[in-house]
Amino acid sequence: MTLRTIDSLGPLAGKRVVVRCDLNVPLRDGVITDDGRVRASVPTLAALVAQGARVIVVSHLGRPDGAPDPKYSLAPVAARLGELLDAPVAFATDTVGADAAAKVAALADGEVLVLENLRFNAGETSKNEAERTAFAGELAEFADAVVSDGFGVVHRKQASVYELEQLRPSAAGLLIAAELDVLDRLTENPERPYTVVLGGSKVSDKLGVIAHLLPRVDALLIGGGMLFTFLAAQGHKVGSSLLEADQIETVKGYLAEAAERGVDIVLPTDVVVAASFSADAEHVVAPADAIEQTPFGASGLGLDIGPDTASEFANRIRGSKTVFWNGPMGVFELEPFAAGTRVVAAALTQVDGLSVVGGGDSAAAVRQLGFDDAQFGHISTGGGASLEFLEGKKLPGLEVLGWQ
Ligand code: 3PG
Repeated sequence: MTLRTIDSLGPLAGKRVVVRCDLNVPLRDGVITDDGRVRASVPTLAALVAQGARVIVVSHLGRPDGAPDPKYSLAPVAARLGELLDAPVAFATDTVGADAAAKVAALADGEVLVLENLRFNAGETSKNEAERTAFAGELAEFADAVVSDGFGVVHRKQASVYELEQLRPSAAGLLIAAELDVLDRLTENPERPYTVVLGGSKVSDKLGVIAHLLPRVDALLIGGGMLFTFLAAQGHKVGSSLLEADQIETVKGYLAEAAERGVDIVLPTDVVVAASFSADAEHVVAPADAIEQTPFGASGLGLDIGPDTASEFANRIRGSKTVFWNGPMGVFELEPFAAGTRVVAAALTQVDGLSVVGGGDSAAAVRQLGFDDAQFGHISTGGGASLEFLEGKKLPGLEVLGWQ
């Protein structure tokens, strides 16, 4: 890999370094429910502080519409960062306005400032290159150098990820380097058997990765909301479960291709079917080909993989040398439908080899279910980013840092 590293920026003491992090954490009523991404950003920030740089942290949070929206303020994240760095962290109530300018000017060597949400500014995510470049130019006013470390957002061509890095000397931070190190091991000669577990709700989001992985993996285990599109492609009725009907034909093509290549696409043999989408809904386990034969008939909703499937998936995972998992197996946020995700997560902790959990949802799931980060080989901070990397796509936020 030819990624430019922080060392390439020369001595940074006394320099203003804008660091693009991905601090897009889940919040409930203004409280962070999973601070994984904040913690993952600490090593780079601490290293810059230790050098005596003046550190200006920028990030997005959520998807506000290009204008300030208090619901998406980074203020709680700045407070958490201060706790993790064990140092005062200043916060500017705008991104490139008067407050930001005053606070950047007041920064002393080794101090940290977080600017308000990048996406409160329309230029950040604009489809128009000139608008993005103009906003990047405003950010660049604060920077002698730029460190890009928001791995979760490197697949986005956005002002702070792509244009800003071209306006000042720029390099990748430690998080991006660590993420690529692991993802590289998944693409270059992974130890076999290599199993990929895909869940989550949207088949359409994951089709690209399925196409790219089929020639590379030994087994693909399918759970989560997307499993129903696979069952439908096999000709089964799925009641009122999540279904992307327009993807059925494509999925049929994948099933045929997998059979030809000798890759196992392992689909659930049983599912947990509920009367409705709620934690106290009546629910039963049904064979995957008899989802409509429960007492709930065609209105039954599949909300988790069943126990037989979970144990089959766990056996396959434990018997693998390399495992990549993206997407929960069921609606893990509701306890009656968390078992499948819990069993899969537990199996990943027992892999004798490399286990990688990819994506915000899956990372939040393992932590919410009580697992510790250290039990896994690697927990990636990037969902879309890690999938697009595995798809073999060129990611703008990496290309701009010299990645080839
Ligand atoms: C993520 O949560 O995957 C990243 O922070 C990117 O967010 P986005 O999908 O809103 O660009």
